[in-house]
Amino acid sequence: MVHDRNKPLAPPSGENEVDLEDLSSAPIPKGPAVRARDEQELDFDLDSVLQKINAAVPVVVPMVVGTPTAAGAGPAAKMEKDPLPPGQGPTVGNYQLAGRMRSSPAAMVFMAHRVSQFGIRRPVVVKFAPKNNPAYARNREMLVDEYHAMALLDHPNIAAVYEAAEIDLGFYVALEYIDGPDARVFLDHKVKTKQQVPVEVAAFITIELLRGLEHAHTARGLDDRPLGIVHRDVNPSNILLSKAGQVKLTDFGVVKMRGRTAQETQPGMVKGKPAYLAPEYIRGEHLDHRCDVYSAGIFLFELVLGQKCFRAEGVDIFREVLAGVDLSRLAKANVPDKLAVIIARATDKDPKQRFITASDMGRALETWLQTNRYYVSATSLAAIL
Ligand SMILES: Nc1ncnc2c1ncn2[C@@H]1O[C@H](COP(=O)(O)OP(=O)(O)OP(=O)(O)O)[C@@H](O)[C@H]1O
Ligand SMILES: [Mg+2]
Repeated sequence: MVHDRNKPLAPPSGENEVDLEDLSSAPIPKGPAVRARDEQELDFDLDSVLQKINAAVPVVVPMVVGTPTAAGAGPAAKMEKDPLPPGQGPTVGNYQLAGRMRSSPAAMVFMAHRVSQFGIRRPVVVKFAPKNNPAYARNREMLVDEYHAMALLDHPNIAAVYEAAEIDLGFYVALEYIDGPDARVFLDHKVKTKQQVPVEVAAFITIELLRGLEHAHTARGLDDRPLGIVHRDVNPSNILLSKAGQVKLTDFGVVKMRGRTAQETQPGMVKGKPAYLAPEYIRGEHLDHRCDVYSAGIFLFELVLGQKCFRAEGVDIFREVLAGVDLSRLAKANVPDKLAVIIARATDKDPKQRFITASDMGRALETWLQTNRYYVSATSLAAIL
């Protein structure tokens, strides 16, 4: 539908009934791809449109359900708050928003529906950088990079990306919706309810994550040259667990990749969650895929221990990370020796001592499972979500 620029924006008739359809499908302004906000000639008040979106869309947090301690949990209790029913939310591009997920201010993350002919709705996630943010140009550039990397990846352990576009409201990327909690929510729930994640399931989740990482690390561009992808932000909130027990890596928001400049780190700056960043990255030294192997090791440490690996706040966290992982905590918690050795190797302060690749670490975990006659699958994970 082409936007009629003379038509005023209809006032909302109710909290959840902001009809932005005409607006959001307006043609992309011609000229330079990104213009500063005050240079734009939009004939509607962007701030108020975005405020309406915020007011209309509830914040939703997927929960861990189906465990003995989640009293009364069932399919309806999956979210802390219910998303909007189909057909009610405001639209961004071709997507109808249903709920807002926790996300950083640079890009809002929504669960949404792609509505097609015959009223068919497909659940999706829309990551959206609004144009009214003073840092729009930069936020957009980061989303472009994220899309760029994800568009070249195709793997069951990486969230699939559908499309990206700039519209009058901002820039968005549409992704596969993973129905389930992220690993941060999962871990917090296990700690709160004093449940241990079985070691074999912890190994399974990490093996799946490492498969996704190996795919990203070895991916090639359309010119068949290696892309040199490093995710740089492997942490529990970016590891999604589906109700069917699948594990999917997402949020390539600070990806390092050949040919992309938005993510070049300035001296003295690091991106990503510090408690999961490799020491060499924090020190500003050479960075490669082994930095993600390290983060996967920290993640495994936290899965098997049910505790944070580094607990300092603020800048002290950097000092703690540089001091290295306290491996004695694994022994004290009776983590099997051979598993502790794998964690120690993955999280070594010296990248040369780590597993050379993500798949090497995955193979070590698989061998450990086999030697100990563990049989574990997606069903085992699904059972504790
Ligand atoms: N494809 C998806 N399916 C389901 N949930 C998702 C999906 N993508 C993101 N989420 C949820 O939204 C949250 C924020 O998304 P994402 O990590 O991409 O954005 P972010 O703003 O970069 O977050 P942060 O800065 O906290 O890492 C995730 O932690 C996860 O809970
Ligand atoms: Mg994230």
